Amino acid sequence: MRQPKRGSVGLMRHQPVLLDEALDLLNVKPGGTYIDGTVGSGGHAAAILDRAGPGGFVLGIDRDQDALKRAEQTLAGRFGRGTRNYDLARGNYSEMTRLARERGLNRVDGVLLDLGVSSEQLDGAERGFSFDKDGPLDMRMDRAEPLTAADLARDLSEEELARLIRELGEDRRARAIARAIVKERAQAPIRTTAKLAGLVERAIGGRRGRIHPATRTFQALRMRVNRELECLRHGLDAALATLAPGGRLAVIAFHSLEDRTVKRFMADHAGRWESLPAGGRAWRGSAPAARLVTRKPVTPSAGEIERNPRARSAKLRVAERTCGNCGRDTPPTRGHMT
Ligand SMILES: C[S@@+](CC[C@H](N)C(=O)[O-])C[C@H]1O[C@@H](n2cnc3c(N)ncnc32)[C@H](O)[C@@H]1O
Repeated sequence: MRQPKRGSVGLMRHQPVLLDEALDLLNVKPGGTYIDGTVGSGGHAAAILDRAGPGGFVLGIDRDQDALKRAEQTLAGRFGRGTRNYDLARGNYSEMTRLARERGLNRVDGVLLDLGVSSEQLDGAERGFSFDKDGPLDMRMDRAEPLTAADLARDLSEEELARLIRELGEDRRARAIARAIVKERAQAPIRTTAKLAGLVERAIGGRRGRIHPATRTFQALRMRVNRELECLRHGLDAALATLAPGGRLAVIAFHSLEDRTVKRFMADHAGRWESLPAGGRAWRGSAPAARLVTRKPVTPSAGEIERNPRARSAKLRVAERTCGNCGRDTPPTRGHMT
């Protein structure tokens, strides 16, 4: 079995997920221009550049300064320092239109968003993303942002905590967890991942199989700290606006809230006829600005999951821009009802 590579500080190097599938469906072309909105350690970006060849270009964006350093190492190591084939920008992918324009890119041939956190972020105890490693309860991807998970654990009311854990963690035991957090913080502040993981475990019981009971609570706090769904919604709009006609948007999601957001966005922009209860059909969604390339999400093979268990929940969806910002997108010419 192929073993994951280790980085210079002994952390597990991030293994790009669904790599061949994403590149094939992005339809990477020689000489094409691409945006990797979540460049991370640069695994996907390097592979895109490999396929796009000497005339290709990738703008890599990440909100995490450490990720950009790793991406620079990967890309400079592979293509040479100072090459004109890539540029890296610190920022939020929801601002990709501006970040691209500032670099003279108006329309690109493809955008990739590989959502969630990287292995380096998860494995770095000091980043506070993991219930398995004791560290400060931080969870910020961008450490220049002020709000941490410890702030939420300290400041939200029991009701707000329960809603957060139920809505963003999709955990049915949210109320018991919120109650335990509020009880614990009345004794002493909850400042570490181990303390939070321990109190959730005591409140709702131990591991079920390989799943730690605090998994969903950590997911909820992380999503709120980083405003992940809000960024995703804005980022999808920005990506579509930045694509050239025929350009493709590929998104890899890791849990149902992300995947549902992507699925709805793509379906709305592709539009569809829906049967009405009273008979006839109605056009649903905005005017078609996209075509679905994947009707069902693409998932990793058994072999990929065996090599990289973190890939197991990945879902890839791809859509193609059908019209540039011509402002003349219209639903099918037969009108809204037939
Ligand atoms: C799963 S990793 C990407 C790994 C990358 N594809 C690779 O091959 O190394 C996700 C990355 O996206 C970044 N990220 C998450 N949300 C972001 C956002 N809204 N804007 C910019 N970067 C974001 C994270 O900091 C993280 O480095």
